[in-house]
Amino acid sequence: MKNMKNKPLTRRTFVKKTSIGAAGVTLASTGLASVYLDIIQDVEKPAILGGSPVRQKGSALGGSWPVYEDSDVQMYLDAYKSKKWSEYSNSDKELSVRFEKEFAELMGVSYCATTNSGTDALDAAQRAFDIGPGDEVITQTNTFIATAQTTFNLFALPVFVDSDPETFMINADLIEERITPNTRAILPVHIGGAAADMDKILAIAKKHNLVVIEDACQAHMGEWRNKKLGAIGDLGCFSFQEGKSLCGGEGGAVIGNDDNIMAKVDAYTNNGRDPRGQRRSFPGSNFRITPFVAATLLGQIRRLEVQSAQRDENSLYLEKLLSEIKGVRPTKKYSGQTRRSFYEYQLIYEKEYFNDLPKTKFVEAMRAEGIPFGRGIDSSLHLDPFIETYLNLRGFQKVFSKERLDKYRRENLCPVNERIDKETGLSLGQKVFLGTMRDMEDIVTAIIKIQKYSSNEVFSDHSYK
Ligand SMILES: Cc1ncc(COP(=O)(O)O)c(C=O)c1O
Repeated sequence: MKNMKNKPLTRRTFVKKTSIGAAGVTLASTGLASVYLDIIQDVEKPAILGGSPVRQKGSALGGSWPVYEDSDVQMYLDAYKSKKWSEYSNSDKELSVRFEKEFAELMGVSYCATTNSGTDALDAAQRAFDIGPGDEVITQTNTFIATAQTTFNLFALPVFVDSDPETFMINADLIEERITPNTRAILPVHIGGAAADMDKILAIAKKHNLVVIEDACQAHMGEWRNKKLGAIGDLGCFSFQEGKSLCGGEGGAVIGNDDNIMAKVDAYTNNGRDPRGQRRSFPGSNFRITPFVAATLLGQIRRLEVQSAQRDENSLYLEKLLSEIKGVRPTKKYSGQTRRSFYEYQLIYEKEYFNDLPKTKFVEAMRAEGIPFGRGIDSSLHLDPFIETYLNLRGFQKVFSKERLDKYRRENLCPVNERIDKETGLSLGQKVFLGTMRDMEDIVTAIIKIQKYSSNEVFSDHSYK
């Protein structure tokens, strides 16, 4: 391996004891230290080069998703049979209100307002702070488009800040230089389910009198200093779309502690009805969830902690295994993160340990092994064509000066995130961590295979199909 700084696993590896050696003794039962044997030479050819895959076809890695039992179906049917198919009165009997109470309690906050998507949660949260035309919101480029779209939709500017190359979170050290007199909020995203650097973000917000809206759409059950992500800033926004670790099909929520602000959020979701008196005294729209979504969420939330604990356990095991090899490592976490959550678990690919094999080829080779690596989460939003479309809308041209928009374009640079996208970012979906310890071992086994053969001329010519 010509560019290897530090040859991994040339001696002592676990491979023989895991799926490749098929000796029937797994790392889980043996313990790591005793099983590193000098057997990397036994590693079979990668599937992409004609070998047999680590995971045979039909043996998908991880758990199946979403998970439900007969009792979930019954809850859904009961909602259906109740003939109460819309809920808008904030009565304790309503399924949506029951879910809001449960979720607020789990998150350790006073209030939760459900919405019909994470996108609408972000919308309602920004509206509650009267963020609107001419305002600016500091956010990040590596997130789902909704984070920025919802700000743009208010004729306000989302200002993209580059990522931290080690954590892939918003680089909090770059926030202050992007603050202008029009900045109203910081909207960090706990992308993938790991925590943004909330200590720094809260301190900057305090210093500049800004509000903090956490995009926790991917971060159910994560914690910062033992408080739930989403409950750290002024408001937190969640998505319950199918892929999320708490899912209702579609759906979302805003959580918070401030009575007045949360009344505004709730009212916005319910055509302006003040939840404290039902008078239509606030701006509003209809972001209400159906009782069917609420019933699904009430079913799903029952297993959230158990699933989260299983993901914790598997990810810790994977991290332990990865610490023994070079070239693929988990992103770093900030010290305030006391628990991570799971949507896409992010990892860093270092091609120098793979004979400069490009990330895309590595991912392709891993997928051929049956390991569903993603190329990282979401794109570099700052490069997306929708930005120019918004900036050229009549409303934007009216509200912002040409100088401001030109400056926005000039400063819209996130080179670190572009490198993450192209070269270093890898991801594994949350359902992978609902699998077994053996699944975790297979991930590392496949990495070792690719690594060993990365000097193969077929790989280096990039001419394999
Ligand atoms: C970070 C982030 N923000 C916002 C959203 C929007 O959520 P929804 O799809 O429920 O509208 C998502 C959904 O994927 C997301 O991942």
